[in-house]
Amino acid sequence: MSEICKNWTEWLKKNRFAGQTPEMIEQTTKWLEAVRDVILVYAEIKPYDVIIDIGTGTGLLAFKALEMQNCQGRVIFSDKFQDCLDDCKRILDESGVTSGYEMLLSPCEHIALPESTVHKALMRSVLVHIVNKQPAISEIYRILKPGGKFCAFEPVIRSNTRYWEILHPMYIEKYEDFKRVENEIMENPLDSLCNFDQDTIRMNLEIAGFSVPEVKVQEVKSNYVVQAGMVEQWFNNPPSPGQPSTKERYLQYFDEATVNKYMEDVQSYLTGREINLKTNAVFINATK
Ligand SMILES: C[S@@+](CC[C@H](N)C(=O)[O-])C[C@H]1O[C@@H](n2cnc3c(N)ncnc32)[C@H](O)[C@@H]1O
Repeated sequence: MSEICKNWTEWLKKNRFAGQTPEMIEQTTKWLEAVRDVILVYAEIKPYDVIIDIGTGTGLLAFKALEMQNCQGRVIFSDKFQDCLDDCKRILDESGVTSGYEMLLSPCEHIALPESTVHKALMRSVLVHIVNKQPAISEIYRILKPGGKFCAFEPVIRSNTRYWEILHPMYIEKYEDFKRVENEIMENPLDSLCNFDQDTIRMNLEIAGFSVPEVKVQEVKSNYVVQAGMVEQWFNNPPSPGQPSTKERYLQYFDEATVNKYMEDVQSYLTGREINLKTNAVFINATK
């Protein structure tokens, strides 16, 4: 397991942008804000709604919801990890915000709230870190009031461009072996990052009780020129604290010398080359 990052707050602040140029960081930040704003538009927030941001992290959704309610409603910053809540609370204290919110330490599979208490449940990139998504989605349904909304965004990583698609077999030793292993990793049913897509999410929502949930697929195409050192970042950066990096995943199949050689081949093939990537995600808009 990677020792690179100790907790979520640290990961969200540092690793989220690992391997990105300043222009890419600016683009990612703008994209995060755009995703946040779509979720909040779906949620149709009203002044006195009880709103929960589940897996709030650094408070991307909750801070904006608080601002939209002018600190007069009740926004619940909720996370499984105390470090995230502490950091959000510190920011609120430093900003002199004293009302309209509360902190709730709670895993989303067992949210410490009574049934039917929340008008809006918001979430971004949390289910992707949970192996078994059904209990979490059913729990969200339980805490929503009738007519309440669950509005979320989740990346669908298994539909993204894979490394083997942007490489050329002639320049990569063991290309076919790494292609087979990458496909196996991406389709592992026990890996929270890749074990779902729009169809399984829709099924989870329906099983939970949401009728006709909207699950909208978003495919984003991007292209950029690969810089020196970028591949090392891609391979060494863990997708979340405690989860293995791509390099560590490959080490379950190959010895270290083979993985290092693959990384070198990938870096030297891609450096200076413009690559086209496809990333997929879903927006969820479901009403109880
Ligand atoms: C990728 S971050 C997203 C943070 C934030 N929602 C955002 O959009 O910036 C994932 C968050 O989910 C939280 N998390 C992971 N597993 C969780 C669980 N089982 N229950 C609640 N929160 C969880 C983590 O602590 C982290 O804050």
